[in-house]
Amino acid sequence: MSEAEPMADEFDTVAWWTATAVAELGQDHALPAACRGSGSPAGLDWLGASLGLAPGTRLLDSGAGVGGPAEYAARSFGVRPVLAEPMEGACRAASRLFDNPVVVADGLALPFPDEAFDAAWSLGVLCTIEDKRAYLAELRRAVVPGGAVGLLVYTRAVESLPDQPEGNHFPTRSELADDLRATGLTLVEETLLADLPETPEDWNQAAARVEDVIERRHRDDERWQRAQSQQETIVGLIRDELVVGVLVSCRRD
Ligand SMILES: C[S@@+](CC[C@H](N)C(=O)[O-])C[C@H]1O[C@@H](n2cnc3c(N)ncnc32)[C@H](O)[C@@H]1O
Repeated sequence: MSEAEPMADEFDTVAWWTATAVAELGQDHALPAACRGSGSPAGLDWLGASLGLAPGTRLLDSGAGVGGPAEYAARSFGVRPVLAEPMEGACRAASRLFDNPVVVADGLALPFPDEAFDAAWSLGVLCTIEDKRAYLAELRRAVVPGGAVGLLVYTRAVESLPDQPEGNHFPTRSELADDLRATGLTLVEETLLADLPETPEDWNQAAARVEDVIERRHRDDERWQRAQSQQETIVGLIRDELVVGVLVSCRRD
């Protein structure tokens, strides 16, 4: 099996199933279900405040997934988000769930002119990218000089991992710092996801109900089984603190 298949199961097929499950349960489930990859509301609040997001800010969300974080930023900070995401199923899901503009695009070759955005963020994506500097350079190119760039990065806290979800390339924190420096992004502040307030219980329950519907409908499908196994691997690495979520707020030099 190629490395791309488990990624497609999780980020394309299951992403689309998420939108159809929300349709069964109700639109009040959309935001929690569509933010599954991005940590927590507290993480998005911290990052949005640190990046200085404000009403009217043109925000690029690269690797936007099902679109929850961009919608959260629109509701909480009044930004005007644009979503870029390579998986067509995720893009269709984001368009079905929310009203924000979405483009099918690889973050390594963004289809936007230089300096098209005031700010950009990319959440839980960098660890899926091999050429991290090329990816960061595209984010930098897309924002105005002095513009804010935010990341959620799952970092490797040990030399080697006992188990590795396919298609992931977790950087160490020092590799991440080197990559930011090398691409002209100045670190403003950072925090560990684990140091922020926990996700509210009603939010977790809504997301879990969506996952239950997906499981009920698709548990016999090997694409669901592969995505589930990937998910369990990463959850185990985070629980054992071998992989650590870090929120990073930067400025374009
Ligand atoms: C863990 S999910 C996070 C989704 C979303 N940012 C969130 O926080 O909910 C990782 C996302 O990165 C996307 N991705 C993978 N390779 C990418 C690339 N080269 N450029 C942009 N996004 C990519 C995947 O399709 C997936 O949607």
